[in-house]
Amino acid sequence: MSAYDQLIALMNKRRSIHYFSNEPLDESTLTKILETGRIAPSVENTQPWHFHVIRDSALKTKLMDTSCYGNFVAGAGAFIVIVCDKSAAVVSPDTLWNPREMEYSCSVACHAMMLAATALNIGSCWVSLHHGPAHDVLKLKDQQIIVGGLMLGHMKKGDEDASLEHQRKPLKSMVTYDKHS
Ligand SMILES: Cc1cc2nc3c(=O)[nH]c(=O)nc-3n(C[C@H](O)[C@H](O)[C@H](O)COP(=O)(O)O)c2cc1C
Repeated sequence: MSAYDQLIALMNKRRSIHYFSNEPLDESTLTKILETGRIAPSVENTQPWHFHVIRDSALKTKLMDTSCYGNFVAGAGAFIVIVCDKSAAVVSPDTLWNPREMEYSCSVACHAMMLAATALNIGSCWVSLHHGPAHDVLKLKDQQIIVGGLMLGHMKKGDEDASLEHQRKPLKSMVTYDKHS
């Protein structure tokens, strides 16, 4: 299989998984997933992310209460909150023409970790958090912006295709070539 075929197969295999088995997520698997976040690309190579790994049940429950649609967070083996540290900005503000790209960079890291999870047969799902309350739970500083949460865990048998929303629009509906004004 070509590298492209392997990649597209992995991307097609990934699904948002909401419910997990009770099997704990071992440290080495978690580290492998985090490693792919670490090496993700970022604007000006700022690497503005910090990954808060939450395994403590009480803390998971508190964060679950700050999520938009994440009433399943408690069941995840680990919940990673991806935080963008705006103080990681490059020396001169002029070189970073769009500071929001630091948050975009964190999304890229999150996607890398979702794919890594799939490659390791671990279920994952991005969970949107209400930034204010989640910020308070984690006692973050003003410069630290929550980008999102990532549930990780072993999939329940038979639940590997848990998402009903995997259908995508056709490519031709989302691509425009050589458009002139
Ligand atoms: C930025 C972002 C936020 C999301 N927030 C949530 C969420 O709060 N709860 C949830 O269950 N899924 C969430 N999702 C997962 C999407 O619902 C899911 O990716 C989409 O429906 C496509 O399904 P699939 O991931 O199985 O392909 C989020 C995904 C992204 C990229």
